[in-house]
Amino acid sequence: MKTTAEIRQSFLDFFHSKGHQVVASSSLVPENDPTLLFTNAGMNQFKDVFLGLDKRPYLRATTAQRCVRAGGKHNDLENVGYTARHHTFFEMLGNFSFGDYFKHDAINFAWEFLTSPQWLGLPKEKLWVTVYETDNEAYDIWHKEVGIPAECIIRIGDNKGAPYASDNFWAMGDTGPCGPCTEIFYDHGEHIWGGPPGSPEEDGDRYIEIWNVVFMQYNRLADGTMEKLPRPSVDTGMGLERISAVLQHVNSNYDIDIFKTLVSKAAEVVGTTDLSNKSLRVIADHIRSCAYLIADGVIPSNEGRGYVLRRIIRRAVRHGHLLGAKEAFFYKLVPTLIEVMAEAGRDVKEKQANVEKLLRLEEEQFARTLERGLALLDEALSEVKNGVLSGEVAFKLYDTYGFPLDLTADVCRERNITIDEAGFEREMEAQRTRAQAASQFGVDYNNVIRVEGETKFEGYTESESLAKVTALFHDGKSVEQILAGQSAVVVLENTPFYAESGGQIGDSGYLLTQGVSFNVKDTQKYGQVFGHIGELEHGSLSVGQIVNAVVDIERRHQTSLNHSATHLLHAALRQLLGSHVVQKGSLVADNALRFDFSHPEAISKAQLAEIERLVNQKIRANFLIQTDIMDIEAAKAKGAMALFGEKYANQVRVLTMGDFSIELCGGIHAKRTGDIGLFKITAETAVAAGIRRIEAVTGENAIDWILDQQYILTQSAELLKSDINSLTDKIQQLQDKAKKGEKELQSLKEKAAMQAGSDLAKSVVKINGVSVIVHQLDGIETKSLRVMVDDLKNQLGSGVIVFASVLDEKVNLVVGVTSDLTTRVKAGELVNFMAQQVGGKGGGRPDMAMAGGSQPENVAQALIVAQNWLNENL
Ligand code: SER
Repeated sequence: MKTTAEIRQSFLDFFHSKGHQVVASSSLVPENDPTLLFTNAGMNQFKDVFLGLDKRPYLRATTAQRCVRAGGKHNDLENVGYTARHHTFFEMLGNFSFGDYFKHDAINFAWEFLTSPQWLGLPKEKLWVTVYETDNEAYDIWHKEVGIPAECIIRIGDNKGAPYASDNFWAMGDTGPCGPCTEIFYDHGEHIWGGPPGSPEEDGDRYIEIWNVVFMQYNRLADGTMEKLPRPSVDTGMGLERISAVLQHVNSNYDIDIFKTLVSKAAEVVGTTDLSNKSLRVIADHIRSCAYLIADGVIPSNEGRGYVLRRIIRRAVRHGHLLGAKEAFFYKLVPTLIEVMAEAGRDVKEKQANVEKLLRLEEEQFARTLERGLALLDEALSEVKNGVLSGEVAFKLYDTYGFPLDLTADVCRERNITIDEAGFEREMEAQRTRAQAASQFGVDYNNVIRVEGETKFEGYTESESLAKVTALFHDGKSVEQILAGQSAVVVLENTPFYAESGGQIGDSGYLLTQGVSFNVKDTQKYGQVFGHIGELEHGSLSVGQIVNAVVDIERRHQTSLNHSATHLLHAALRQLLGSHVVQKGSLVADNALRFDFSHPEAISKAQLAEIERLVNQKIRANFLIQTDIMDIEAAKAKGAMALFGEKYANQVRVLTMGDFSIELCGGIHAKRTGDIGLFKITAETAVAAGIRRIEAVTGENAIDWILDQQYILTQSAELLKSDINSLTDKIQQLQDKAKKGEKELQSLKEKAAMQAGSDLAKSVVKINGVSVIVHQLDGIETKSLRVMVDDLKNQLGSGVIVFASVLDEKVNLVVGVTSDLTTRVKAGELVNFMAQQVGGKGGGRPDMAMAGGSQPENVAQALIVAQNWLNENL
């Protein structure tokens, strides 16, 4: 029996033998396609090749492509684990022809691979096919050439309610390459319920689609037009898990080798023996998508791809919890996953440490609120009357306990309860509105400033230019004129002021003309125009007037040094920590820079020093900072780092610093790296799970920072009468000395306490013939108090001693009773009784008990109470 790994390999070998280039699986994060959440088909990486926009050195290719179908509009997450074939992650085996062979070869290749004894050797009579209703060509190839009987070939028309909306017409999305397809089905046998495709029982598990062969012929445009592709092509997809199920003689994908191993490992790490439990399948499925998503650079977060990942991890964790997992378990499946995925496991293996760490962090973080959230949900569910959980509860779970909606749905499903999703959305919307209202200090100009035309930006070459005022805004309204003393936003036709973007702050400076000066404190973009935000200090300013726009060049210069340093830092991090480092945000200001990036753990002091060294080395290399405008494809071909998810225009600006850094960037930079002068990291912290932040300073600011630190050091050395080099030794010596001093002090205190104790023996009073000492002794530690009590017990031979002491605003009570009296007075009882007076409680043995309290003002009262208690009880 073939293993899944062997089947994957046979497929690639077969198509290789037919002249196909074996191409590696692409990442789950689709490159160049922000319309697609995750890679969901083998053809994704070839989309532009089909459209004729991209060329490859080969015309035939074959892949085993990892895919994720979770999240987005059609979210099946809830079903995963409960059905035989739903997965978040699967592998698609595919062969592709880019204008080379077409229907004839595509069908014959598929048939040969499936049925030839040399390859999979499936019995021919078990195979059924469908073709697009009007595709006589495909029908004839199947019937006349391959020899499939007419009753096993089913024509399927537009069965989804619109032209080309058919199970046998495949399209990547609303737009893009598409075409009719033919699908191959496997009959799992009579013992399983279900009917052939097109029959009323087609949804059963008997006839299972195993291979989809698409004849790519059209490009669907946004208006619905079908444009013919330059050359007809082929795109096929066969689910590896399904074909493995067929060859391993099982009906459910979860019974194939990969899943069996993962399920038993999952059982081991959560500590259960019930291998049939559905939760184990959920976990086995989810570790695949989660590990590969992280390996491909996705990080759990609250939006976009990161949120889908978070939802899947949390669902897995909840199912582990259901099975009784007591500690983080999910990450422990990674080694087994790598092993069962064989060749395909390499992509995770390379990032293994990172993947495990992020999974563990995310799990630990969620575990903190999971129990409380589940308890709340449990209570809410027990009160549900009409089978629907309220949107408010679902929202509270989401908002306070981090329960994604589908996780709550998952729990509800176990009790046949649904969620009022509309109610949940309403709560969500209400929260958004509240958040917006809270952030609206003053006027939100984003909603107000709408100006036709665009501001021409001249700041790459100029720091001063003459410009016409095209609009003015004051107090949230468009005005014709502003007067001295008024705050306003001035829109100019052209400007040298850089508007905040790409992390770099907006420029400040002045707009000047005869008798008029407007102080620009910040510059922001509003659509296509630049708004200069500030205050008119002198004169009046009207729309249409010409001003001289003068940028504060010193501030901009400092900012540009920080911006260039940020690029060097980014490149250094990738070189020293690894290519998993991806920029997650940045702030480039005049006084400092901040750079957020993905990395699973704190960066050690030694690593930070190495990063600093490398950046400074590149500063000293004094590279020319070169700017080129080129088209995006050329930029990517040069290896420029681009931020995923950012929309870039066709023409982009590429910043190159020697052979060290190349990045797309619209910001303002130094002329040479040497201008930065010096780079100094000032802090390294965590911003979120898996995201670190480095703060740093450059140029003058770096010098100032170092001088300040130096000053602190010299001051400290002076205070300690030492020099900087022996400072740590000196501190160590002082600490040792202080410790020794403390010890001595403690023993002196005890000695003094003994002394005081023996003096106290004189203040004994008799109650019902018993010697009693009741006394307040402030400033003495409990330990010494106890020693004193023991000492007095010895001196008295028979008696009761009660001490109260106030130390550091806290009350300590100690009661000692000699053993001959413990039948009459229990130290624990008495001390507890007293403690109530001082807001505390305590206990201990009948002959010695202690208590603490927080109300020193009531100590005298506590002692009186003790006296009275002894009067009554002795
Ligand atoms: N693109 C087709 C599918 O995803 C065939 O590979 O089914």
